Formats: sequence, structure tokens, C-alpha cells
Amino acid sequence: MATKKKGGSKKEALAGRTSSGSRKTALMVEPAKGKLGVMVVGLGAVATTMIAGVEAVRRGLAKPIGSLTQMGTIRLGKRTDNQSPLIKDFVPLADLKDIVFTGWDIFEDNVYEAAAHAAVLDAETLKKLKPYLSKIKPMPAVFDRHYVKRLDGTHVKKGKNKLDLAEQLRADIRAFKKTVNRVVIIWCGSTEIFLKPTAVHKSIEAFEKGLEKNDPGIAPSQIYAYAAMKEGVPFANGAPNLTVDVPAMIELSKQNAAPICGKDFKTGQTFMKTVLAPAFKARMIGVKGWFSTNILGNRDGEVLDEPHSFKTKEESKLGSLEYIFQPELYPDLYSDIYHKIRIEYYPPRGDEKEAWDNIDIFGWLGYPMQLKVNFLCRDSILAAPIALDLVLFLDLAKRTPELRSIGIQEWLSFYLKSPQTAQGLYPEHDLFIQSMKLKNTLRHIMGADLITHLGLEYYD
Ligand SMILES: NC(=O)c1ccc[n+]([C@@H]2O[C@H](COP(=O)([O-])OP(=O)(O)OC[C@H]3O[C@@H](n4cnc5c(N)ncnc54)[C@H](O)[C@@H]3O)[C@@H](O)[C@H]2O)c1
Repeated sequence: MATKKKGGSKKEALAGRTSSGSRKTALMVEPAKGKLGVMVVGLGAVATTMIAGVEAVRRGLAKPIGSLTQMGTIRLGKRTDNQSPLIKDFVPLADLKDIVFTGWDIFEDNVYEAAAHAAVLDAETLKKLKPYLSKIKPMPAVFDRHYVKRLDGTHVKKGKNKLDLAEQLRADIRAFKKTVNRVVIIWCGSTEIFLKPTAVHKSIEAFEKGLEKNDPGIAPSQIYAYAAMKEGVPFANGAPNLTVDVPAMIELSKQNAAPICGKDFKTGQTFMKTVLAPAFKARMIGVKGWFSTNILGNRDGEVLDEPHSFKTKEESKLGSLEYIFQPELYPDLYSDIYHKIRIEYYPPRGDEKEAWDNIDIFGWLGYPMQLKVNFLCRDSILAAPIALDLVLFLDLAKRTPELRSIGIQEWLSFYLKSPQTAQGLYPEHDLFIQSMKLKNTLRHIMGADLITHLGLEYYD
């Protein structure tokens, strides 16, 4: 375990060199020694774009654009101190060259074949990476068509009940652990049908009984999450599935020091929503309606074309506006918003999603105005760096004594459409509050002064 000593590493020096000097001692974040094993559930478009991207960056073929951990800086001390190191030089993150990937999928395709199928990255780039990508072959998955109706795979584990399947996943995790120093698991699998928490999710004990009895309330994503946490492994959820958003999983996360965070990568339309809505609110501009529609042609779009999976996504996408606008505080501005979201499966576009937003707003004396947003994005190009950052930050949380046993890492809300919070706490959706929270958490764990943006000291 690393403690802060005088004359220590560059990272330690950066943490200690703040201007006011009131918090000079870092809270003992363990260094990122050795290999970080990343186990990815679902080797589809997002996962293969992340894996191929990491390898492309490692080889110097491309830059990690969109990744805060790789390109972002963090200001330390006063504006006049001129200290803004890269985040990865300030906190001890795993180096990309130390990442080892493996995963599970319901199809046998290796990562090269799966990436070619997803058709996010061009053939020329993939060809350069083929020797590396084709060596990563998925392990058989835990899957049940009941939860993802549009898919049917053959590369699937068999077991006498859900507990047996969880044991098989735990054996996979333990075997992989022997080859690396630390492990993080991330769900990049499909969106499951909409599930609500039931009695089986209330406690670890009830959940384990449910696994044994094949309780239908337990979806495959929860079997992976359970296996991860039983092995003390952090777990991120890129889909809107219920997964760890239940008391049993939160309890297990704390008990086994296996950090978790919210769900559903915040990439395209919701990313824009959580930028625009705070701007309207900051200026007290009213909103009457917000209509969002998308066309999407990849496998995710195909899965979301099924109403039960769409419902899961819709719920996740709907949450942000209500929490940002706080209609209970601003009834004149936000109590009567018509918010509608559509996702249309349109194969010709593949991963190149197009999103439209029509926003009906009103200003001074109630005069109406409109704002139109047309985002021509690439779904997995936006999601891949988020997946990478979540993995690296969850690994950091696991090495940080103050964070690893608190369960939910709310400071990672920045990346997620549905942030997870302590019970009774409303989630913060505003991207800029989330960004500040993330950076202040990093300052905090490294013993640097928090930045409040008060700034009166410049006028003393
Ligand atoms: N791309 C984005 O911008 C974005 C944004 C937010 C959320 N997401 C979510 O991320 C997830 C992945 O998206 P994608 O575009 O890569 O989808 P995808 O369909 O290309 O990949 C999903 C993969 O998961 C596999 N899978 C499904 N169930 C599995 C299971 N039980 N075990 C193992 N593998 C399983 C599928 O076979 C497939 O290969 C989806 O849930 C999607 O909604 C994506």
C-alpha cells in the first residue's frame, strides 16, 4: 500500500503541491501495480470498439479521444498556480499497456470477427489489429432468451439452476485472476426486458435463495454481477438493466469491497440533454415539451426494437429531465413538460445513429421559442471511451480504502444515464455538476484541496 512520503513519485508530488496546503496527505491510494484484467460481458459493438481502440492507442495508431482518463487534465490549487496535470499523472490509474481483455458472449466469434460484424471501425484499421483481436475469444455466456427476446445464441453455459451458473462464472473469474493482478467486470451486453425489484432482491440471503430456485426476477446480468461481487470484483453496467440497482447487490458490493456505479452509458441524446437542460434551468428558461427521436441500425437497435427491452431503455432515458428541472422548486417553468422518447430500428444506418430533439421552450413573459438538435453521432465511438474510463476508475476505487467499501461510486455518475445514489438521495444528472464531483473526488482521495470556484482570494 502506498503512503505519501516527501520526495515521492510525480503523482504524490502533484497531490501535495496545492497552494493552501491544508490537505497535504493523500489517503493512501494503492499503486496500480501489474496487469489489470478486464472481463467484458457481451463482445458486441461497444466492447469491440473499446478493445480495438485500446490496442490502436497502445500501438500509436490513434489517440484516445473522448477518454477523460487518457486526455483530461485536472486543475490543482489556485488559477494563478498554473498547475493542471493530466488526470492519469495525478491519480494512479492502470496504464493502457497493462490492460488484458477477456469476456463472455452468446456467439463464438472472436473479437476480430465480432468487430467486423459490428462494422464500427473500418476494415483497414481492423486488419492491422487482427492478430491481437482474433486471439480474444469469448467464454460461454449465461443467457436466457426470456430476458433478451431478439437474440438467440448457442455459446451458452448449462447449469442445474441460476446458482450453478453463478458458480461457473465465479470459476471463470478465479481462473482469469490467476493470470493478472486485478480484475474489473463491465457489462456491455444487450438491454434486457424491463424488470422491477421484487422480494428476491431485498437481501443477499433472499437473492441467493432465488438463485437456487431459479427465480424469474433474476436476470442474467444479475448473475454476472453477483459472481463479480462474490469474487470482490468491481462491476460496471453499460446497459439500462436493473442489475445492481437493488438492495441485495448494494449490500454485497459493500460487504465484499466490490465498487459499483449507476447504469447505461451516457453517450448521445441523453448526453446532450444533460448539457442543455441545466443551461435552461440556470437562466430560468421554461420548457413545455421535449420530443426526442432516434434512428439506429445496429444489433442494439434491433434488440431495442422489442417493446420489453425498449421499455428498459425508455425508463433510463426519461429520468434525467425531471431531476434536472426540479419542477417542485420551479412549478412555473417545469411542472408541465411533455417528454417523449422514441428509438426506431433502421438497419441502413448501422452504428451511425441519428438523433433529433425538438425542444419547446418559453422566455420572458411566457413567449414561446424552439430549439432543434440534430446529432449525427456514432454510438459506439461515443461509448467506447466511457467504458474504458469506467473500468479504470472502478479499478482506482477498488485500490482506494476510502472508496472501496462504500458500494455505490456516485462520483462516476458523469458517465451514466441513470446514476445510482444512496437511498433517499436524488441523483445528479447535470453533466457539469457530475464533472465537478468526479474531479473533486480525485482531488480528495489524493489529498489535494477541493475547488469550489469561489475565487474571492484573488481580490484580497
Ligand atoms: N452504443 C451506445 O452508445 C450505448 C449507449 C448506452 C448504452 N448502450 C448499451 O450498451 C449495451 C451494448 O451495446 P452494443 O451496441 O455493443 O450492443 P451489441 O448488440 O452490439 O452487443 C451486445 C453483445 O452482448 C451479447 N450478449 C447479450 N446477452 C448476453 C449475455 N447474457 N451474456 C454475454 N453476452 C451477451 C450479444 O451477443 C452482443 O454480442 C446495450 O445494452 C446498449 O443498450 C450502448
